[in-house]
Order: sequence, then C-alpha cells, then structure tokens
Amino acid sequence: MRLLPRFSRRTLLLGGLAAWAVLTVSCTLTDRAIVMPLQIPGATIVGSGACTKCHGSITSGMHDATHARLMLRDDAGQMKNVSCESCHGPGSLHAKAGTRATIINPKVKPDTCLQCHTNTRSEFSLPHTHPVLAGKIGCSDCHNPHQGDANNPGGARTLAASTNATCAKCHPAQTSHFVFTHEVMREGCVACHAPHGTVNDKMLKSRGASLCYQCHFQPQASNNQIFHGGFNHAGGQANIPAGTCWNAGCHEAVHGSNVNSNLRY
Ligand code: HEC
Ligand code: HEC
Ligand code: HEC
Ligand code: HEC
Ligand code: HEC
Ligand code: HEC
Ligand code: HEC
Repeated sequence: MRLLPRFSRRTLLLGGLAAWAVLTVSCTLTDRAIVMPLQIPGATIVGSGACTKCHGSITSGMHDATHARLMLRDDAGQMKNVSCESCHGPGSLHAKAGTRATIINPKVKPDTCLQCHTNTRSEFSLPHTHPVLAGKIGCSDCHNPHQGDANNPGGARTLAASTNATCAKCHPAQTSHFVFTHEVMREGCVACHAPHGTVNDKMLKSRGASLCYQCHFQPQASNNQIFHGGFNHAGGQANIPAGTCWNAGCHEAVHGSNVNSNLRY
C-alpha cells in the first residue's frame, strides 16, 4: 500500500467533486486523491470484512450508513471496502490482538472526522461552539457513524424531530413540553442555532432582532409603525430600538412558555 503526502486543502474532500469521485479515497498518485488515510504504526488495511468476526452487530447495521461506501485501492489495484478503517485506522494489528491500543476511537479524536470534513473544522474554530475540540463532547453525540443517515441520528420521520431529540439528551429545559410552544420548534433548533458554531453568543445564526425577522418581519408603510402580532413595536415603548427581542421583559421565553402565549416569561 503506497501512502501519499497530504494533498493541499484545495484537492481535499467536499470541494465540489462529483459525489462518486469523492467516495473514492484513492491511494494512487492522481489528483483525485482526497485524504491521507489514518495511520497506526505497524498496521495495514485489512478491509471491513475482517471486523465482522468480532463486531458483527456494527458491521451488519452499517449497510445503510452514510459512510458505508468508502473505498480504497490496494497495491494490486483492487478496490477494498474500508468503511470501518477510514474512521478507525488500519486494522491488521487490532484484528489479531483485539486491544484498544491498536485501534483509533474517534469519540475522543474528532480530528479523525475533521481530516475529511474540513469545513466542519472551520465551524468549530468560530468564537461560540460546542466544546468538541475541547474534548467535552464528541461528533458522535449528535451523529451516528454506524447506521443510517449520519445527519439524522434518531432516524425520526423528519430531520427536525430527529435533531430536537438529539439536543434533548443534553438540553432538557429547551426541549420540554410547554403550554405555549414557539411554533418554530417544529422546524427544529437549527432554525436559530448552528450547532457546530457561529460568531454569535449561544451559537445563534444571526444577531439581535434579525434572528427573529427571518420569519416575523412585517414592514408597515405609514407612521413608522412596525407591527408584530398585531402590536406596534415602534410605538411609545419603542421596543425594537431597546435591544434584542428576548430582552428582559420581552420574549424571554423564546423557546416556549408555560404562562404567556407571547412567550414573555
Ligand atoms: C479478534 C476480534 C476482533 C476483531 C477481528 C476486531 N476487533 Fe475491534 N475490538 C475487539 C475487542 C475484544 C475490543 C474491546 C477491547 C477492550 O475494550 O479492551 C475491540 C474494540 C474495538 C474498538 C473500540 C476501541 C476503544 O478505544 O474503545 C474499535 C473502534 C474497534 N474495535 C474497531 C475494529 C475494527 C475497525 C475492526 C476491523 C478492522 C476490528 N475492530 C476488528 C476485538 C476485535
Ligand atoms: C464515520 C466514522 C466511522 C465509521 C465509518 C465507523 N466507525 Fe466505529 N466508531 C466511530 C465513532 C465516532 C465511535 C465512537 C462512538 C461513541 O462512543 O460515541 C465508534 C466506535 C466504534 C466501536 C466501539 C464500540 C462502541 O460502540 O462504542 C467499535 C467496536 C466500532 N466503532 C467498530 C466499527 C466497525 C466494525 C465499523 C465498520 C463496519 C465502523 N466502526 C465504522 C466512527 C466510525
Ligand atoms: C475518509 C473520509 C471521511 C471520514 C474520516 C469521515 N467522513 Fe463523514 N462523510 C464523508 C463523505 C465522503 C460523505 C458524503 C457521503 C455521501 O454523500 O454519500 C460524508 C458524509 C457525512 C455526513 C452527512 C453530510 C450530509 O451533508 O448529509 C455527516 C454528518 C458526516 N459525514 C459526519 C462524520 C463524522 C461525525 C465523522 C467522524 C466520526 C466522519 N464523518 C468521518 C467522508 C468522511
Ligand atoms: C451538538 C450537536 C453536533 C455536534 C457535536 C456535531 N454536529 Fe455535525 N451537525 C449537527 C446538526 C444538527 C447538523 C445539521 C445542521 C442543519 O441541518 O442545519 C450537522 C451537520 C453536519 C454535517 C453536514 C452539513 C455540513 O455542515 O457540512 C457534517 C459533515 C457534520 N455535521 C460533521 C460533524 C463533525 C465532523 C463533527 C465533530 C467534529 C460534528 N458534526 C459535531 C449537529 C452536531
Ligand atoms: C452530548 C451533550 C450535548 C448535546 C447532544 C447537545 N449539546 Fe448543546 N451544549 C452542550 C455543552 C457541554 C455545552 C457547553 C455548555 C457550557 O459551555 O457551559 C452546550 C452549549 C449549547 C448552547 C450554548 C449555551 C450557552 O449557555 O452558551 C446552545 C445554544 C446549545 N448547546 C444548543 C444545542 C443544540 C441546538 C443541540 C442539538 C443540535 C445541542 N446543543 C446538543 C452539550 C450538548
Ligand atoms: C426562535 C429561535 C430559537 C429556536 C428555534 C431555538 N432557540 Fe435556543 N435560544 C434562542 C435564543 C434567542 C437564545 C438566547 C436566550 C438568552 O440569551 O436569554 C437561546 C438560548 C439557548 C440556550 C442557552 C440557554 C438559555 O436558555 O439561554 C440553549 C441551551 C438553547 N437555546 C438550546 C436550544 C435547543 C435545544 C433548541 C431546540 C429544541 C433551541 N434552542 C431552539 C433562540 C432559539
Ligand atoms: C424560522 C421561523 C421563526 C423564527 C426565526 C422565529 N419565529 Fe417566532 N414564530 C414563528 C411561527 C411560525 C410562529 C407561530 C405563528 C405566529 O404566531 O405568527 C411564531 C410565534 C411567535 C410568537 C407568538 C406570537 C403569538 O401571537 O402567538 C412570538 C412572541 C415569537 N414568535 C417571537 C419570536 C422571537 C422573539 C424570535 C427571535 C428570537 C422568533 N420568534 C423567531 C416562526 C419563527
């Protein structure tokens, strides 16, 4: 197996190549090579078949996984299914020894994922992020690497339901049942938060009122009035210039409220 020096970012994955070409992790000297396979000293690639013996439940569930089709060309020019080893590193030593020291576990090493998902690395480098690079939570807390659509870990009917369920594991306060739920929750937490990270506090997608104006902007032509929900927000109290929409006394209960249908408390 010949290994290549790392190619420049430009030739890396997810750079607009045709999807099938992207799926070929090529080890030959062509500009289609996209990533340097992971390395474990002394170990070589054995193919996913070798994992079946001891991890049958994972290999059998893998058939419909997003990452099931990652292939590598070996020295004899044969394509090998390396869906396991693309994330866990070459498995020859581990398949004999069955020890933890001989295999990579990306749960504690997000770099394993980020070598391919370079865009995601830059998102996690923004000022407000989930503490993944700090090692407090892993990519697999939100993405299932072994089964189904990696973007839809719960396999729920809608992506929104599924992501909300994912977030609920750690954020029960925002995902509990409210008497008055902000209806946007049906679109999911990602309507307002970008969970990898953003430049804004609380990983909000945009700042201040513009976050809410995506859906609630109702421009009024006369008298400098701005109505939301039938109430003039540019009137005597001048709500809008006073700050964000979730300021003290305004829509503080932005996720949902048990007492106020205007999400105020
Ligand atoms: C001969 C049986 C055997 C084979 C074959 C085998 N494993 Fe394992 N694997 C084990 C055992 C046993 C453990 C648990 C080790 C422990 O907890 O000390 C393990 C643990 C793991 C872990 C978890 C490591 C950790 O840090 O928690 C990963 C990942 C893994 N195997 C991947 C693979 C992959 C990928 C293959 C195929 C290339 C493979 N295994 C083939 C026996 C095997
Ligand atoms: C997209 C990357 C990816 C692929 C592909 C992948 N894994 Fe994993 N694997 C992970 C991550 C991440 C974890 C840590 C999961 C966790 O604990 O949250 C993991 C954990 C494991 C473990 C430890 C036991 C466990 O459930 O925690 C074993 C064993 C394992 N993988 C085997 C395999 C086998 C066999 C394949 C191929 C059929 C495979 N993996 C394919 C990313 C991957
Ligand atoms: C060897 C390169 C490689 C590694 C390592 C890798 N991925 Fe991927 N990932 C891909 C490719 C290629 C796709 C696109 C698959 C497709 O579209 O069918 C993908 C797709 C995804 C998607 C779905 C993206 C979408 O737009 O639907 C998610 C989520 C994802 N990967 C997360 C992870 C996580 C988490 C890890 C680490 C546990 C990981 N990946 C490791 C290559 C990789
Ligand atoms: C806190 C939960 C969470 C964590 C942790 C997380 N993700 Fe995601 N990720 C998501 C959600 C939710 C989406 C879907 C976003 C959307 O629909 O707007 C997503 C989308 C993606 C996508 C596809 C869209 C894109 O941005 O390209 C990839 C690839 C991905 N994540 C990779 C990763 C990797 C790699 C890690 C770890 C370094 C990771 N994610 C950690 C929640 C998370
Ligand atoms: C595995 C647990 C876990 C999951 C799953 C998770 N988070 Fe988090 N979340 C955290 C941790 C840990 C922090 C950092 C808390 C801190 O720094 O005090 C955090 C912080 C946040 C913050 C910022 C809070 C603040 O006070 O600054 C928001 C917003 C958030 N998460 C939204 C989400 C969304 C949306 C999802 C689902 C896509 C999600 N989280 C999934 C663990 C998780
Ligand atoms: C309508 C937009 C919107 C949606 C949808 C949304 N959030 Fe928020 N979220 C916010 C705003 C705005 C804040 C900042 C509140 C503050 O600073 O007082 C926030 C703050 C948070 C915080 C930090 C703690 C707090 O309450 O201040 C967490 C955690 C959080 N959201 C999780 C979630 C989760 C989980 C979901 C999905 C179930 C979700 N959010 C959906 C707008 C939203
Ligand atoms: C992705 C779209 C979307 C975003 C973003 C959004 N909302 Fe909403 N909001 C809705 C929908 C849909 C409803 C229910 C229909 C309605 O009452 O207009 C609603 C209802 C409300 C209500 C209840 C109004 C009533 O009379 O019942 C308040 C208050 C509210 N939103 C405040 C906010 C605030 C504050 C923000 C910014 C943090 C925000 N919304 C962001 C879609 C959104």
